[in-house]
Amino acid sequence: MKSFVKSTRNHLFCYGAGEERVGVPTEYTSYQNNLFNETRMSRRSQRKRITAHASFMAVKKQLMKKHIVIFTGAGISAESGLKTFRGEDGLWEGFRVEDVATPAAWAKDPELVQHFYNVRRKTVLEAKPNAAHSALVKLEEMYQVNIVTQNIDDLHERAGSTKVLHLHGLITKAQSSEDPKLVYPIVGTEIGMGDQCELGSQLRPHVVWFGEAVPAMGEAIRICQTADIFIVIGSSLQVYPAAGLLDETPNGAVKYFIDPQASALIRHHDVIGIDEQAGVAVPRIVDQLMGNNVQ
Ligand SMILES: NC(=O)c1ccc[n+]([C@@H]2O[C@H](COP(=O)([O-])OP(=O)(O)OC[C@H]3O[C@@H](n4cnc5c(N)ncnc54)[C@H](O)[C@@H]3O)[C@@H](O)[C@H]2O)c1
Repeated sequence: MKSFVKSTRNHLFCYGAGEERVGVPTEYTSYQNNLFNETRMSRRSQRKRITAHASFMAVKKQLMKKHIVIFTGAGISAESGLKTFRGEDGLWEGFRVEDVATPAAWAKDPELVQHFYNVRRKTVLEAKPNAAHSALVKLEEMYQVNIVTQNIDDLHERAGSTKVLHLHGLITKAQSSEDPKLVYPIVGTEIGMGDQCELGSQLRPHVVWFGEAVPAMGEAIRICQTADIFIVIGSSLQVYPAAGLLDETPNGAVKYFIDPQASALIRHHDVIGIDEQAGVAVPRIVDQLMGNNVQ
């Protein structure tokens, strides 16, 4: 049995095909022997056929699943105790964004920036996934699910979601300040000044700062382009290029926007706005989707 790799709508999958044919003996040598072999071979053949059929059905089932893309922002983690980006005072945890989340800030005062993220990291590690994170995990039973998140926390993963793409990095990791592709786990909660990468440069948080490239953007666009259902949760849709992902979704996709400010923020006529907190609305929408209430 050969294994083929095929690509459809960006999903790579393998399937078994081409069953091994079992030959009928061409020369009569021993009737009993051949009968025995034939019976034995055909049982083996049957087993292979059943296995091939099962794997074909599994692939078919996977292909028939609708594709849900969840696009999350800081708001989904608000009920876990993590502050959103811009508070009413326009600050992030009391700091101007320019002072803690830009390459210029790092160049000017690396100790301040390192300290800011060390404190945020501790808070993230103490936080727990909330009802919204947990509800999204259930969708994987029935749908093909991708989460594209702007969040730098790991609450989706800790809730149990399996396909999470972090557009803006992950605060629980460190990266080289010379080569962003060099990424490292962090032992404990802090990156110390003086901690170095293998090139000898200072380690910094593995987050994308304002003004930096978003390396995962290409993959995120490809994911969004095949969405049957697209759900934005807890994002002000102010941070680009991430906020532009909504425009990458197919015209026919069913789109939801769950955020207490959804109606005020949304500029798209084909998006269903739900002006509620994620912890309330997400479990309800997930229940509806699991009940097949959406075409
Ligand atoms: N948890 C995190 O990882 C975290 C926290 C703060 C900032 N950030 C970073 O800051 C940037 C912020 O952009 P953004 O659009 O994600 O966030 P944002 O702060 O710009 O907007 C947050 C949105 O969440 C909504 N919100 C508040 N409470 C909510 C709740 N309980 N349920 C649902 N929605 C709620 C607000 O109305 C707002 O629209 C991101 O790039 C991200 O990397 C991340």
